[in-house]
Amino acid sequence: MSLNNNSVNIVVFASGSGSNFKSIHKKIKEGEINGKIKLVISNNPKSGALKYAISEGIPIFVHNQVRFPDGIKYYESISNELTKVNAKLLVLAGYMKKIPDEIVAHFERRIINIHPSLLPKFGGKGFFGMNVHRAVIQLKEKESGASVHFVNQNYDDGPIVAQSAIAVKDDDSPEELAARVLVEEHKLYPEVVKAYCENRILWENNKPIIVKGS
Ligand code: GRF
Repeated sequence: MSLNNNSVNIVVFASGSGSNFKSIHKKIKEGEINGKIKLVISNNPKSGALKYAISEGIPIFVHNQVRFPDGIKYYESISNELTKVNAKLLVLAGYMKKIPDEIVAHFERRIINIHPSLLPKFGGKGFFGMNVHRAVIQLKEKESGASVHFVNQNYDDGPIVAQSAIAVKDDDSPEELAARVLVEEHKLYPEVVKAYCENRILWENNKPIIVKGS
């Protein structure tokens, strides 16, 4: 599909290497996703996500304790940036800060996040990065994977829209498992963003369902 005038304004939030952000941006550049990344927001000025955004000419906005020492400004500053770019979809891709409740309320059903486990398992406060994979291995889970969910006021708790499962091997290290889950993430997240931008996510009884494209 080629980009048209109805392309969806996306804002990406990322704190880390930004590989999920890159996987989505790649599909946009290939004309697969009818969206445009208008801004990348980060709390980490040294993140790979920001470096990549700069190299691709995507505007960035950095907020951190130094720039906004009083804390209160966090919500206001983010909110202003979202308004300026007329954001329609917020994509959290390894963002290590909580989205303010006011923004979650304002962008109801318009914020998605990716998590490296089969939610609701191994989600919530403390389950981030390698902690997730360590716990999966420790509990001898047979399967793990990636989940994309809509964001509510609690960590990793909103309605799940898509998941991709993989087998956990008996001798997996957390790093090996993380690497295989990440491969799934890079396939799954662009698919969900694509579906969103094509209005193919329907809600039934508060559950999001992706319908197939024509
Ligand atoms: C991913 O594992 C994602 O599931 C989690 O944070 C990590 C971000 O990785 N929310 P990257 O920065 O996209 O490489």
